[in-house]
Amino acid sequence: MGFFANLKKKRTIKSNNESKQSMLHKNLKFAAKEQYKQIRENLSFVLPQDEKSYVIGVTSSVRGEGKSTTVINLASVLAEKDKTVLIIDADLRIPTIAKKLGIEKTPGLSNFLVGKTEKAPIYSSNINEKLFILPSGDIPPNPSELLGSERMARFVEKLRDSFDFVIIDTPPVNLVSDALALSPVLSGLIVVTRESFTEKRELKRCFRQLKLSEVKVLGTILNDASEDHAKNYRKSKYRYYRKSDYLKTDYLTPKPEDGNNADVTDNVGNDEKKD
Ligand SMILES: Nc1ncnc2c1ncn2[C@@H]1O[C@H](COP(=O)(O)OP(=O)(O)O)[C@@H](O)[C@H]1O
Ligand SMILES: [Mg+2]
Repeated sequence: MGFFANLKKKRTIKSNNESKQSMLHKNLKFAAKEQYKQIRENLSFVLPQDEKSYVIGVTSSVRGEGKSTTVINLASVLAEKDKTVLIIDADLRIPTIAKKLGIEKTPGLSNFLVGKTEKAPIYSSNINEKLFILPSGDIPPNPSELLGSERMARFVEKLRDSFDFVIIDTPPVNLVSDALALSPVLSGLIVVTRESFTEKRELKRCFRQLKLSEVKVLGTILNDASEDHAKNYRKSKYRYYRKSDYLKTDYLTPKPEDGNNADVTDNVGNDEKKD
């Protein structure tokens, strides 16, 4: 299967400062930005229709696949569409959102969850007036417990009154259970993979965990896709995929045959057997 065929066994990503900055919101290349807009549009098909606003978790199997980059870019294209959006950095172990957006990470979510601040310290962003940020805060000893707490659940429910979208950055599923602890408060979860980086067996393990938690997987994003991959997609039945040197949406496009998480997991398994 095409999508998984491009997930290699070895991690071979090299990135420099220039490529790091070029992957964020205003600096995005046209083609990459178009892909994020495509993901934004695809989301409207896969999100539950009966919720007044959406809380979307972004995770992956391991570190470095592009979760935080996806969170920032997706949030910014949603804000451009006049949606009120809050980014929460719930990667309380290795937070990067504040640094990527040039703000302080403390005080933030963890300080609020332990009761150190009465109000959640939500900051406006300089990307878009409709985009807000709740940074991680100090690194706590028990992130999983905090994220799965009653206080967090009540807080997120309240946020639904003020924001159209809450996009939550989380640590990788294969390393810690933090993303799973959050699953009861999520409308759904996006899984980020990265071409020539994500290992099939890691992704398979990730989906197995997600299936156990019963969280709704909204789709998978293939980040950093090569031009070859894009060309293959153009030739394939998914003709509307545009050429992009960075990013592809895959399962975020609803397809009748992709009914549920189980299918995705099975596909990973089948693909592995073919190798
Ligand atoms: N499509 C891409 N092209 C180039 N660099 C990227 C791309 N996606 C992510 N990066 C870079 O890779 C590194 C890891 O990305 P990040 O979003 O922080 O991953 P994660 O949050 O999953 O650990 C960062 O330095 C980021 O700038
Ligand atoms: Mg990250």
